[in-house]
Amino acid sequence: ISLRPFNTFGIEAHARHYLRVTDVEQLRHALLDPALAALPRLVLGGGSNLLLTGDFDGLVLHIASTGKAVLAGDADHVHVRAAAGENWHEFVQWTLAQGLGGLENLALIPGTVGAAPIQNIGAYGLETKDVFHSLTAYDPATGAEVTLDAAACRFAYRDSMFKHDDGRHLIITSVTFALPRAWQPNLRYAELGTALAEQGIATPTPRQVADTVIAIRQRKLPDPRVIGNAGSFFKNPVVSAAQCAALLARHPALVHHRQPDGSEKLAAGWLIDQCGWKGKSLGAAGVYPKQALVLVNNGGATGADVQRLARAIQDDVEARYGVRLEPEPVFV
Ligand code: EPU
Repeated sequence: ISLRPFNTFGIEAHARHYLRVTDVEQLRHALLDPALAALPRLVLGGGSNLLLTGDFDGLVLHIASTGKAVLAGDADHVHVRAAAGENWHEFVQWTLAQGLGGLENLALIPGTVGAAPIQNIGAYGLETKDVFHSLTAYDPATGAEVTLDAAACRFAYRDSMFKHDDGRHLIITSVTFALPRAWQPNLRYAELGTALAEQGIATPTPRQVADTVIAIRQRKLPDPRVIGNAGSFFKNPVVSAAQCAALLARHPALVHHRQPDGSEKLAAGWLIDQCGWKGKSLGAAGVYPKQALVLVNNGGATGADVQRLARAIQDDVEARYGVRLEPEPVFV
């Protein structure tokens, strides 16, 4: 089966076996089959954080479960739960329609609810971990569904246990979020506050924050339905305060953000931009002209094309700044 419709990069690759599952029972049933269980497995949600580098000689499990609910929560939080296969942005819109704020800064991120915790999706001053309550996951090794809280998930910048050896085998089936009853806008990200102020909005509603985030994203980021991409292709590198100071001495305009632990997060988009890659292409893979951190498929690109471009960028940035950029999407 062609995986082209199932990855936002729009890369052509084939999988030997494909199964669309809409509930845990289907998942259990499939993985109780020894022949299916023995195959290499690729669990797929929206396919928006994925680079297919070739055909997949195994089983693609497409998680397509649906369902959302508002739960009782506690004194300070309303809990909302969604099945892993729900579309992330539609889920955010649904919470807003229920009058619940808390997820608005994460509006318009491609992908599914189940994928959100894996890379701890984040944007505009908010990360999944900040609004996360718990999740359920199916463990193919035991056939049981487990419930994990935030500590168990080990969230970090674009990272969680699900990207590491002890968590990679788990298949997330639902996620529960804790949304504050006493909602306050999160305007930590300067551009968001500025964009609201420009509209003359001093005390925004969650809806207004969401609409502003959507407008900013549409201005800067390519719509994967039009131009194949997987969002930011590299993580923003985190360096020591000393390394940042040394870089600043040579490059005073370096964009950097101090982290709570004293380390410094550099803007990978700025580094790539400075190396002259913005808007450039190598074969059918290119660097998006409005955001240098996003690699795009200009039409007919293969995973190898994208990898070649990514490596050229990594080499240039490293030669100039001594920092090796780390890809964000999962390579398959
Ligand atoms: N910059 C440039 N040139 C560029 C791009 C960026 O000079 O071509 C500079 C900007 O001027 C700015 C800085 O780099 O000073 C940061 O840029 P921006 O605010 O656009 O955000 P980012 O660091 O490039 C991160 C996330 C995005 C998220 C935005 C907003 C990562 C890897 N990416 O991008 O997440 O939407 O912040 O919070 O952390 C994603 O992960 O797929 C993604 C889109």
